[in-house]
Amino acid sequence: MTIASESSVAPAAVTTLGTEWWRSAVIYQIYPRSFADLTGDGVGDLPGITSRLDSLAALGVDAIWLSPFYTSPQKDAGYDVADYCDVDPLFGTLADFDAMQNRAHELGLRVIVDIVPNHTSDAHRWFQEAVASPAGSVERARYMFRDGKGESGEIAPNNWESVFGGPAWTRLVEPDGTPGQWYLHLFDSSQPDLDWENPWVREQFRAILRFWLDRGVDGFRVDVAHGMIKAPGLPDFTPAPGGSMGGSSAPAEGVSLEPGISDHSEDQPTAPFWAQDGVHEIYRDWHEVLAGYEGDRVLCAEAWVEPLTKLARWVRPDEMHQAFNFSYLETPFSGPALRRVIDESIAAFSGVGAPSTWVLSNHDVVRHASRLALTAENPQGAGIGPKSAGLPDTELGLRRARAASALMLSLPGSAYVYQGEELGLPEAIDLPDEARQDPTWFRTNGERYGRDGCRVPIPWEADSPAFGFNTTGASWLPQPAGWSVYARDAQAGVAGSTLELYTRILAARQEYDLGMGSVEWLDGFGEAVVAFRNGPVTVVSNTGRVPVELPLGSVLVASENVDGGILPPDTTVWLIGTE
Ligand code: NOJ
Repeated sequence: MTIASESSVAPAAVTTLGTEWWRSAVIYQIYPRSFADLTGDGVGDLPGITSRLDSLAALGVDAIWLSPFYTSPQKDAGYDVADYCDVDPLFGTLADFDAMQNRAHELGLRVIVDIVPNHTSDAHRWFQEAVASPAGSVERARYMFRDGKGESGEIAPNNWESVFGGPAWTRLVEPDGTPGQWYLHLFDSSQPDLDWENPWVREQFRAILRFWLDRGVDGFRVDVAHGMIKAPGLPDFTPAPGGSMGGSSAPAEGVSLEPGISDHSEDQPTAPFWAQDGVHEIYRDWHEVLAGYEGDRVLCAEAWVEPLTKLARWVRPDEMHQAFNFSYLETPFSGPALRRVIDESIAAFSGVGAPSTWVLSNHDVVRHASRLALTAENPQGAGIGPKSAGLPDTELGLRRARAASALMLSLPGSAYVYQGEELGLPEAIDLPDEARQDPTWFRTNGERYGRDGCRVPIPWEADSPAFGFNTTGASWLPQPAGWSVYARDAQAGVAGSTLELYTRILAARQEYDLGMGSVEWLDGFGEAVVAFRNGPVTVVSNTGRVPVELPLGSVLVASENVDGGILPPDTTVWLIGTE
């Protein structure tokens, strides 16, 4: 074992280390629809979250991020917001939010909420007013309305496609019943894009940020943080061969040379609706808003931007604090690809004084306990279902997921954990067609399964209705019958369970302060092995097919049994006391 090189966290951070909790935090994503349902109507709610927060404190996370719970027709599971400053009755009330946040803060958990600035719901008052007002009115100027092309405006203003499939433009029927202007929606037709060149829009969002900051939230996860500004003139765009319109499915931003290895160059064609320079001014403004508040309030960008050097622009010192590292999420469980993305991440983010983040799962991607064992290409956002090619072996998927999580959570920086991954939950593959709800499924006529499979309500109790999600047994997406084995109560205190592995990992991560550490690569284990030191801890992860001999040391964490000093395939170990 030889020390090869070192990647460390941002030297620029030194002045404020210790107070900036988010630099090393483990942040747990709650998807409110599917976390815990106190009312028993089959959809999770805020009181349900409050009732289960103790288990997250026991798990050892530092913060929670909640996907949207705002007033919404739920056409895109709440990412279609009709009132940014109220709670949808489906989830409770503002008082329920306050109670949830108070309890979280009592338990020492910070609270991050989602903000969705690229688009509103078509049920939002702003859009309703725009539709009721004439072309050219101030109300229409809040959104991206344009006249169509062709003799009677019957052709959409350009060729852009929605991330969810189909055209990105919908034509209005004017109040007098005649066909009218078109409006842009990068996502579903129920999600009209706002015009962020309009100062009025900017002012509204400053007020929305203040509303939640005044209520005490610790930060915001910013939806589609690379999409708010569009190129002047809204030019047509044809993605490079093999690319797509991108969006939550990225590649329009940077072309993958091979899975998990992004191109280093920055001269890839940029889609005219992603990553326009103008977005940065918005985040500088928001940074100022947050800086006006006490405490360490944070902004985290959901920006599907590659390469990482480009993504790092979102977290320059006067912009956001964190950005999801989707390049890491998209990296296969392969030694060379992982070493490279870890190096690139630390270099890119520390170059601007920001921590790297690490993430393997969320509500938009196939859960990593299934994804890491897929044997066929699966473009992000496509999802998997009964007819997908290359369906995963469940046992192998779980084994890889445990190894991948043990590796991710040993890295310096901040990590995101998606609800249920601490239980080893796989993707729900066999959802009946009639149960599916993702707009992607509908907009592609079932060609893409979409994201429902990672959004199924999570199991708490093996022998209760809906596995303890509620007491009535109702569930907005059906839970697979076999999920009792993943239930939290079936794993709590059980040696070797995935829940115990995560609990052990998070305790050790904190004890050795790995989040503020560094990566010191170790050579000599072979290509397929990722091995490094982070402070006193030696991490060795075997992504290959042959067992590997471990250095002498005591085992702190192991994703599988590592008897006899041998590290089997698809296993990660943390050691202390190595030479
Ligand atoms: C990203 C969110 O994570 C996803 O769930 C949503 O559909 C799109 N943005 C549109 O808001």
